[in-house]
Amino acid sequence: MSTPKLSTQETYDLDRAHVFHSWSAQGSLDPMVVTRAQGTRLWDGDDNEYLDFTGQLVFTNIGHQHPRVVEAIQEQAATLCTIGPSNANDRRSQLASMISDLLPDNLNKVFFTNGGTEANEHAVRMAREFTGRRKLLSAYRSYHGATAQSIHLTGEQRRFANDKGASEVVHFFGPFLYRSEFFAESPEQERERALAHLERTIQMESPDAFAALVLEPVIGSAGIIPPPAGYLEGVREICDRYGIVFIADEVMAGFGRTGKWFGHQHADVVPDLITFAKGVNSGYVPLGASSSATPLPGTSTSAPTRAA
Ligand SMILES: Cc1ncc(COP(=O)(O)O)c(C=O)c1O
Repeated sequence: MSTPKLSTQETYDLDRAHVFHSWSAQGSLDPMVVTRAQGTRLWDGDDNEYLDFTGQLVFTNIGHQHPRVVEAIQEQAATLCTIGPSNANDRRSQLASMISDLLPDNLNKVFFTNGGTEANEHAVRMAREFTGRRKLLSAYRSYHGATAQSIHLTGEQRRFANDKGASEVVHFFGPFLYRSEFFAESPEQERERALAHLERTIQMESPDAFAALVLEPVIGSAGIIPPPAGYLEGVREICDRYGIVFIADEVMAGFGRTGKWFGHQHADVVPDLITFAKGVNSGYVPLGASSSATPLPGTSTSAPTRAA
């Protein structure tokens, strides 16, 4: 028995009565009712056609309703809808291996999550476990997610309502020549001054207390802000100097969004961990992940032999 279809007005009315929308002043919301989508286009309840320049929340990297992905979802739903995390599964094994193939050799273990914020939470926990340290670094003008640690990593105003001052996160200014915090007049000056500022921040905040630095290789939500050439390499060097785990948050920049598979691949750097979500499957079903080096503390490098 299929659920009866709602009219556009019924959909709208029930939404306004019962649905909370994220990052919105609920009272003033007037959401568009979307009834269908295909490729780069979507349609509203009056059958008006729109060119989807937003990619929704910058996640429909392969467009809407890609037939091969829809078919794969249907096939998997008919075969096996869900399985507990302690079991192995052909599709999970295959996907982890395909993702590892896109990344440098040291990033060859994938921890799947339901989305980007959760991936960042887990990456930070791995870094803390690995280093035995607590403090974290992230940039102003960044967005890293809406859950407990990720919202504190976030460097823009959405953090404020949650920030009670006990987050263990220290923020720093990244390079942004258009509104330079460093009075720089060229990308090179901006890079050098931003790197010096980052290193001074670490030194003045107890240099051996930092577990991880979390950074979007290209800033997304706060405006598309690519770093000047050499900045990510400089960050990598600083992380190495102070034993800090470098986590590249590729949730928005990853999976082709910047013209390479991952945003950090525009620079000559290999992060210790990367996190991703969104474009990994164009948001068709919830999926994110932290990709990490192996071995991490507590993980065994020798896989148990499968009984014959
Ligand atoms: C860079 C970045 N990190 C993390 C997130 C959070 O991802 P999710 O909304 O899947 O939890 C986002 C979402 O916009 C993002 O752009």
